[in-house]
Amino acid sequence: MSRLKNLAGSVIQAALSPHAVDRYLELVDPMVTWTDIRGRVVSVERRTDRTVTFTVVPTRQFEGFEAGQFIQVSVVVAGVRHTRCFSPATSAHQRSALEFTVTSHDDGLVSKHLRDHLRAGDVLGLTPAAGTFTLPQQRPRDIRLISGGSGITPVLSILRTLVDEDHTGTVELLHFCRDESDNPYRSELEQLGRRSNVAVRYVYTRSGGAHFGPADLESLGDLAFACGPASLLAAVSDCYADRGGADRLRIEEFRPPALTAGADGEATGTLTFSETGASAENDGRTILDQAESAGLLPESGCRMGICFSCTAVRTSGCTRNVLTGDTDSTPDQHIQLCISAPVGDVEIAI
Ligand SMILES: Cc1cc2nc3c(=O)[nH]c(=O)nc-3n(C[C@H](O)[C@H](O)[C@H](O)COP(=O)(O)OP(=O)(O)OC[C@H]3O[C@@H](n4cnc5c(N)ncnc54)[C@H](O)[C@@H]3O)c2cc1C
Ligand code: FES
Repeated sequence: MSRLKNLAGSVIQAALSPHAVDRYLELVDPMVTWTDIRGRVVSVERRTDRTVTFTVVPTRQFEGFEAGQFIQVSVVVAGVRHTRCFSPATSAHQRSALEFTVTSHDDGLVSKHLRDHLRAGDVLGLTPAAGTFTLPQQRPRDIRLISGGSGITPVLSILRTLVDEDHTGTVELLHFCRDESDNPYRSELEQLGRRSNVAVRYVYTRSGGAHFGPADLESLGDLAFACGPASLLAAVSDCYADRGGADRLRIEEFRPPALTAGADGEATGTLTFSETGASAENDGRTILDQAESAGLLPESGCRMGICFSCTAVRTSGCTRNVLTGDTDSTPDQHIQLCISAPVGDVEIAI
């Protein structure tokens, strides 16, 4: 009788919470969901030593994306679900199958796992697309795309989208990578570069190619998109600012920016996680890092203040935004755990 009651209780709970329903459904088939977006990997290619390019067919809940946006992709590594942002390289007009290319980092948990272990048939968690590194609805005529390494994905999405739209203005893509063997899209880009209005140039920085300089751009174009390492983005931003075109440049960085240091004596006090009852002596790192070290698994994605998936309520205490250095102690405030460090005693509702 009590087993029956438990079952009935679970069903009622499931009926009240769509996410709980999806937990039940995934036992039958992880691609059958009520609200969650998931994607089945249908092809996997390892085109270079460091990258994996894979295609994912999303469940019906996925509503498409704008070229240049990112999606949070989650995968289970050693029994724990981890989430990272990845930008589909697909044209925005191709919504039924999303292509991602992930570059693995030597000590990168998720990127190395995908590079080494992802197989066709695997099911990944997905979120709706987000991000503002996108083309305006009214397409500018002359567009510059500048990318470095893994930063090729959102700019390729923009290029493929423009090609699908038969864009007639000029599109110039300048891509920096280590050498010829480190370029997963070389043959496709060469083909695209044969179109009369598309110019593609690669710079192989470990085969004698120089890093970005103002001479790399004859003209600024009507709008430019740059994505890659911080050093490349800084050089491109300087070039646009020096030539009076800062407002014509959009940039996106994949790596968390350098964090501001806290004032002396800030890393004191206790960080209390009120919902779980866990706590930690404040060591000055972000609240997300400290929560994970305390054995908690708060939701997270980009870990750099972009996706808002780590938002939680700071019930009391003061925190510092590690990107801006600003402090705030308004009670019951929503904060992003990945970019907030405690200043003294702090209580967070997780
Ligand atoms: C909006 C957005 C879009 C993105 N799109 C893509 C994409 O299309 N393809 C892709 O390959 N990656 C992309 N990334 C980066 C991706 O989300 C992960 O940060 C990256 O794969 C590293 O995750 P990891 O778990 O392997 O490393 P972690 O285990 O999280 O970190 C391990 C180490 O790697 C360093 N690290 C983390 N990220 C980077 C980075 N980007 N470059 C250099 N070092 C890093 C960390 O500082 C740390 O020392 C994107 C990031 C953002 C914010
Ligand atoms: S993890 Fe994306 S904003 Fe914090």
